[in-house]
Amino acid sequence: MAGLSSKNKNNNGYMKNWHQLFIVSIMVTTLAAACNNAEEKKETVTAAPEAKLKQEKWGSVDGKDVYLYTLTNKSGAEVTITNYGGIVTSWVSPDKNGIKSSVVLGFDSLSGYLARPPYFGAIIGRYGNRIAKGSFKIDTATYTLAKNNGANHLHGGDKGFDKVVWDAITQTTGPASLTLHYLSKDGEEGYPGNLKVNVTYTFTDDNELNMEYSAETDKPTVVNLTNHSYFNLTGDPSTTILNHSLQVNADRYTPVDKGLIPTGELKDVKGTPFDFLQPHTIGERIAAVDGGYDHNFVLTKKEKGVELVATLSDSLSGRKLEVFTEEPGLQFYSGNFLDGTIKTSGGKAINKYAALCLETQHFPDAPNQPAFPSTILKPGEKYHTITKYKISLNK
Ligand code: BGC
Repeated sequence: MAGLSSKNKNNNGYMKNWHQLFIVSIMVTTLAAACNNAEEKKETVTAAPEAKLKQEKWGSVDGKDVYLYTLTNKSGAEVTITNYGGIVTSWVSPDKNGIKSSVVLGFDSLSGYLARPPYFGAIIGRYGNRIAKGSFKIDTATYTLAKNNGANHLHGGDKGFDKVVWDAITQTTGPASLTLHYLSKDGEEGYPGNLKVNVTYTFTDDNELNMEYSAETDKPTVVNLTNHSYFNLTGDPSTTILNHSLQVNADRYTPVDKGLIPTGELKDVKGTPFDFLQPHTIGERIAAVDGGYDHNFVLTKKEKGVELVATLSDSLSGRKLEVFTEEPGLQFYSGNFLDGTIKTSGGKAINKYAALCLETQHFPDAPNQPAFPSTILKPGEKYHTITKYKISLNK
């Protein structure tokens, strides 16, 4: 977006086994860290007419090269992603009149992100959402994390996965895809264990952006990865999301205290402003929600696996966003803390309710709430989870 960047994207087609990607990619991939010459700027690699991936140098952070990758699908739609924070910087899609604009908040240059906007488009980790008092225990060991959100820990700490440079491998056989790798060292931000993380973004011809997350550790730790894209389906962040209509397959949600830490209750949504089992506009009942929506919904999953859990639609643009996941929870954040201080690349203020997040996740504060689905990862286990966002036009 200008807020919403001026590119079009969509993706699909995740790699079922990311190891395959490393083999297949030898012929067609570029290892970002290895690409140092200026010639690579605006290099275009095309392996098949339907899959195009462009890589351009965007800057550098912590002495590491930062690139911007443009994934294009058959319809010409585009998603841009940077290996700084794994940030989705734009997703340009046509509206009902064929006018293209980005449906996510983002900036045209790296400097916008270095000013620390609130997690725009980024991969969030090691733990997405809050951990009460920045502390948790595994067995008898207590771990202390940064309190970077009042008394609590939020989104991985002072320098979470959204603020680091990831290694990148691209693939252009089949749908364009980008695999990002990051080694989070033992003790980083207070978390135990060396955690090897891979996130593969794939953009399909169906305009799905597939995100496949995997991780392994060498000590017991906690992991909860998500993507923090802010959507505004109008493509214009100066129009609020209050008229967007939302449907969520969740018959319960997790009520929170003043610091947005779940009380532990799984509350029935019936008769509350949190009942989105049938579509409701966001503005309809938001005044009855203290501070606006910033809550975890307990997804009513029919079976294990990736499933459609939420649909957002906007009649103005005719666009629709569908969210598919295998995660048990969805944080619906209505952009309550956006206050106009951050400007789009075009100079427009990004105000309250300019965009919203639908973050697939395990529940907030799960490390301290034994009744919630566990987020503990042990050596020898594989963390693996898939979420897809799909943009289309309302029929
Ligand atoms: C949280 C909000 C927070 C926002 C940006 C969301 O995931 O739920 O409380 O303000 O991220 O940090």
